[in-house]
Amino acid sequence: MDTKMKFGERLLDILRGADRIVALTGAGVSAESGVPTFRDAQQGLWADEDPLQLATPEGFEANPARVWEWYAWRRTLINGVQPNPAHHALAAWEHRVGSFTVVTQNVDGLHQKAGSRRVLELHGNIHRTICSRDWELLAIKHDGSQPRCPRCGALGRPDVVWFGEMLPVQALNDASAAIAQADVVMSLGTSSLVQPAASLPVKALELGIPVLEVNPQQTPLSAHALVSLRGKAGDVLPELLMQL
Ligand code: OAD
Repeated sequence: MDTKMKFGERLLDILRGADRIVALTGAGVSAESGVPTFRDAQQGLWADEDPLQLATPEGFEANPARVWEWYAWRRTLINGVQPNPAHHALAAWEHRVGSFTVVTQNVDGLHQKAGSRRVLELHGNIHRTICSRDWELLAIKHDGSQPRCPRCGALGRPDVVWFGEMLPVQALNDASAAIAQADVVMSLGTSSLVQPAASLPVKALELGIPVLEVNPQQTPLSAHALVSLRGKAGDVLPELLMQL
């Protein structure tokens, strides 16, 4: 019995001919590693928690201990998981083309752990801690307690982007530049709801670049993508790569 997934020759031809690829990834790509997504109805982090309290500068100011505790919990969770077949497929893809850029909204570092070398982190990285006053990187050992900046005494905070904050300019510019040069853009495991990340595949569409989406659910991007594959990234991506 032929159990191969069917992708359509047009998509396979485009991917076979693509030498510059950008993969925009979201929480869905880490879901199969055991990292909860944000907006999935049952298990999503924002189903039980209020993002305004945990992921805004105002929430941090109001209750830094609570915010720190939540990020310490997530960091411990992330430290206990491994990259899944989706991360590995993307890392392997990088070796097969001239340029492969992962642009990620994830803060878990799992793409790098899987071996991807060109990773642009749009929302920071949960493993790093910065001074909440001047945003300088703090070299601290995580023991669960909230650190203070050794230079100015301000509270340490995770080096992640919160709602209402600017994205790292360099990463965003590099992502835009990679998209402008891309032969294909893939939007993987993201609800395509959070800006400015969600605008990157739209920019690709405006430039006439084919966009492929992989997501078990429909998103605002689905209707505009060249192809929107309904499936889990960890199932679809290794199979897709195998058929190229
Ligand atoms: P969301 O939680 O908004 O969306 C996750 C998406 O992954 C959904 O569309 C799911 O259908 C899809 N999904 C679930 N399991 C999947 C799987 N196995 N394979 C593929 N897709 C799957 O997460 P993001 O789009 O990443 O920002 O959210 C964007 C930003 O909003 C996050 O970076 C975070 C959040 O608030 C900050 O914390 C600043």
